[in-house]
Amino acid sequence: MLRSQVIGSGSYLPSRIVTNAELAEKVETSDEWIRQRTGIEQRHIAAEGEQTSDLAIAAAQQALAAAGCEANDVDLIVCATSTPDETFPATATRVQYGLGMTRGAAFDVQAVCSGFVYGLAVADNFLRGGQAKTALLIGAETFSRILDWNDRGTCVLFGDGAGALLLRAGEGEGNSSDRGVLSTHIYSDGRHHDALYVDGGPSSTMTTGHLRMQGREVFRHAVVRMSEAIDAALSANGMSPGDIDWLVPHQANRRIIEAMGKRLNLPADRLVITVDRHANTSAASIPLAMDEAARDGRFSEGDVILLDAMGGGFTWGSALLRW
Ligand code: ACO
Repeated sequence: MLRSQVIGSGSYLPSRIVTNAELAEKVETSDEWIRQRTGIEQRHIAAEGEQTSDLAIAAAQQALAAAGCEANDVDLIVCATSTPDETFPATATRVQYGLGMTRGAAFDVQAVCSGFVYGLAVADNFLRGGQAKTALLIGAETFSRILDWNDRGTCVLFGDGAGALLLRAGEGEGNSSDRGVLSTHIYSDGRHHDALYVDGGPSSTMTTGHLRMQGREVFRHAVVRMSEAIDAALSANGMSPGDIDWLVPHQANRRIIEAMGKRLNLPADRLVITVDRHANTSAASIPLAMDEAARDGRFSEGDVILLDAMGGGFTWGSALLRW
C-alpha cells in the first residue's frame, strides 16, 4: 500500500516583526489583552511588494533542499491559500514558475485556516492513488493584506508566513505502524459563513474586501469541531490519545490549542506552539509549526503526529501521520 511520506520541510517568515506594543499605538488595545486572550506576542508582516508566492517559493526551496530534490522531481504542487497573489491564475503556478519547474501540475486549495489539512488530504489522495509520486504541499498567506487595521477585534490576531512539506509515495504495510500519512478527515458546514468571512471578492463586490469575524462564535465552534476531528482520526486508526506523540494544531489561539491538548491528555511539551511568535497565519500555521519542530529535532522517526484545524466556511479537519 502506498503512503505519503514527508521527505523534507521548509518555512519562511517575512523579516518585519510587529509586536503587540506596536499595534497598541495604532488601535485601542494592549499587550496584556492580546496575550491573555490569545497567547500572541508578535507577528511577521510581509514587506510592501512581497506577495504570497514569494513566501511560498522561499518555503518550498527549503523543503526541496532538505530532501535533496530538484524542482523537476516534483509531480504536483498544492498550495493552500486564501490570500492568492491574484484572483487567477493559481498562486501554485507562480510558485511552479519561481522554482523553475516545467512539468507536472500546480493548483491552489482554499479552505482558509483548514487549508493545509485540506491540501494534505488532496495531495495524499494523489500519492496513494498513484497519480503522482512526489508532491509539494505549501501553506502560504499574507493575511495582513485583507485585515481591517482599524478593527481591533481582528487585526491583532493574524500574521504572514509560509510553510511547505515535500511528500513522496512510499510503500507501507497498510497498518498504523507505517511511516507517512495514516488518515485525513475533512469537513465543512456552509451555514456558518457569517461567523468568519471576507466582505469582498471578484463576483460580489469586485474588491478584495476585509476579514470579518464573530470571535466568540468561532471560538465556541473551534473547540467542538476540532475535538470531533481528533476523535475521527483516532478511531479511524484504532488509536487512543495515549498513542499520540505530538499535536500540531492550527495556531489561532493558545486557549484553543491548550483545550485540544487537555482533551488528549498530552503534556504541555508535546504541543507544538508557535502562535506566540507567528500569530494566526491561517493555512501556513501548521506547516510553519511542523518545520520548526522538525528542524529543532523534536520529531523522531516513528512518532505519531496529529494535525487539527478549523477555519472559515466553516471548514475543519484532522490528519494523522507517522514521522
Ligand atoms: N484589545 C482590547 N479589547 C478588545 C480587543 C482588542 N484587540 N478586541 C476586542 N476587544 C474587546 C471587545 O470590544 C469587548 O469589549 P466589550 O465587552 O466592551 O464589548 C471585549 O474585548 C470582549 O470581546 P470578545 O470578542 O467577547 O472577547 P473574547 O474573550 O471572545 O476574545 C477573541 C476575542 C480573542 C477573538 C476570541 O473570541 C477568539 O480567539 N476567538 C477565536 C477566533 C479565531 O481564532 N479566529 C481565527 C480564525 S478561525 C480559526 O483559526 C480557528
